[in-house]
Amino acid sequence: MKNIVILISGGGSNMVAIVKRAQREAWSDKFGARVAAVIGNKADAKGLQFARDHGIVTEVLDHRSFTSREAFDDALAQVIDRYENLSHPVLVVLAGFMRILSPGFVNRYGGRLLNIHPSLLPAFAGLHTHQRAIDAGCKVAGATVHLVTAELDHGPILAQAVVPILQGDTPETLAARVLTQEHLIYPSAIADYLRGELRRS
Ligand code: GRF
Repeated sequence: MKNIVILISGGGSNMVAIVKRAQREAWSDKFGARVAAVIGNKADAKGLQFARDHGIVTEVLDHRSFTSREAFDDALAQVIDRYENLSHPVLVVLAGFMRILSPGFVNRYGGRLLNIHPSLLPAFAGLHTHQRAIDAGCKVAGATVHLVTAELDHGPILAQAVVPILQGDTPETLAARVLTQEHLIYPSAIADYLRGELRRS
């Protein structure tokens, strides 16, 4: 069985969408894959309870107890690698994981580390994306699922969704509109990724 490990920092609504889709579409039968663990870098990350309630193992690794980014990333990799098995490398899914990852970590999981960013990349990488899109007078915004590379919010694009920016939008109203699309494209992009892997094997 191929293990998917999801990393979260907060609400975890993307993780919930992925777990629900994996169950509804029986990814274990279809792709031989399952969400094996959800890891949070904050003990109070809301999504952890949802994962536990759905029988998924959860782990908490608080970045504040580490003296450097690299030390935290090394410990994180050790936890993730527990879900590795011989025939199937683990798939690492960042879902609202609010940490910049070190190059060592990114290289280690190269090609199997996915992220979602709430903008139409390469536009508005980084923070405050919704405010910046509104300030720039954009008529549309959106979300992007991409493979993670060493450069923040860059890397090959796997899926995108577009939403309108409406008169009077605030960062909050726009974020909510974008988030509903994230919940659709992230599970679909992961399913496509798993389908592609199956085809190649
Ligand atoms: C999402 O908009 C995600 O793209 C961004 O942070 C938000 C997290 O949402 N990185 P959630 O934790 O999945 O609810």
